[in-house]
Amino acid sequence: MASIRQHMFFPVLLTASVFCFCANPSLAELPRLKQPAKADNSLSFLVVGDWGRKGEYNQTLVAKQMGIVGKNLDIDFVISTGDNFYEDGLKGVDDPAFYESFVDIYTAPSLQKQWYNVLGNHDYRGDVEAQLSPVLKVKDSRWICFRSFILNSGIVDFFFVDTTPLVDKYFTDPGDDTYDWKGVLPRQAYLSELLEDVDSALKQSKAKWKFVVGHHTIKTAGHHGNTLELEEQLLPILKANDIDAYINGHDHCLERITDSESGIEFLTSGGGSKAWRGDIKRWNKEELKLYYDGQGFMSMQITETRADVIFYDVYGNVLHKWTITKDLSTAA
Ligand SMILES: *[C@@H]1O[C@H](CO)[C@@H](O)[C@H](O)[C@H]1NC(C)=O
Repeated sequence: MASIRQHMFFPVLLTASVFCFCANPSLAELPRLKQPAKADNSLSFLVVGDWGRKGEYNQTLVAKQMGIVGKNLDIDFVISTGDNFYEDGLKGVDDPAFYESFVDIYTAPSLQKQWYNVLGNHDYRGDVEAQLSPVLKVKDSRWICFRSFILNSGIVDFFFVDTTPLVDKYFTDPGDDTYDWKGVLPRQAYLSELLEDVDSALKQSKAKWKFVVGHHTIKTAGHHGNTLELEEQLLPILKANDIDAYINGHDHCLERITDSESGIEFLTSGGGSKAWRGDIKRWNKEELKLYYDGQGFMSMQITETRADVIFYDVYGNVLHKWTITKDLSTAA
């Protein structure tokens, strides 16, 4: 029996690896970073989005509560879902907004951890390469920002996706805004490579948990609504690869939608500063588990078999919490 299995298994493996090699001989890999988990393999982190307003619109209050929750949960890192600097990103690597909106705002000891950032549409309105520059890491060693990248952290793989170039209107109807598309053109080649890279990285992942992070919404009852381009081009990849959650900003609210079809959690943490009160569309009540139109942030604590997720308001009050469990036998 064992020898038959081996016999059947070996050619399959061989074919698969040869196939992968031939199919993508020159595929540029996404940057891959490693973030150690805790000794017991668990990890915890905060998620904040749409924040850089020099402390205004309650950014400072949110930062203070992040510091307190970060200490209580002994967080390992922070994720930013983009729109890091309003209104128009950074003007360059020496823009004082880096200090005024980041370094001098998130000062709590518990927040002196790695920050993993993606870019939002507002970041693309400045010197986009400034936020990607290693110079910022010299100014503040917490800062990590790539357009798209993979973060391996023990039991969790995170896939950070640059969503702004997917959105047509920034190209076709930018109005008075100017976008810095350096590094993104020609657009179609950039997008098809990006989507292919994300798909193949997800397929290769053996992590128990898979989270995808991007700035733009896929499913939301908020102001911007679903991002059509992401629904059409990114969502099928996420579904095919059985991810646990898609985490985004862009809508200035805190929101949880559990997709009844795929079971994917769509989590919006875009309450880092200015919030949009009362700006909500109709959504299936079965799926919409939380919609909060004020400021705040989200935390996650993860072990092999469970993820505890909490949304907080600007005073640190718990707005919504739940646990996702995974059967150990099916987790891998
Ligand atoms: C700050 O948060 C409080 C509590 O949610 C809210 O009442 C107030 O309007 C917020 N301030 C701003 C400028 O958004």
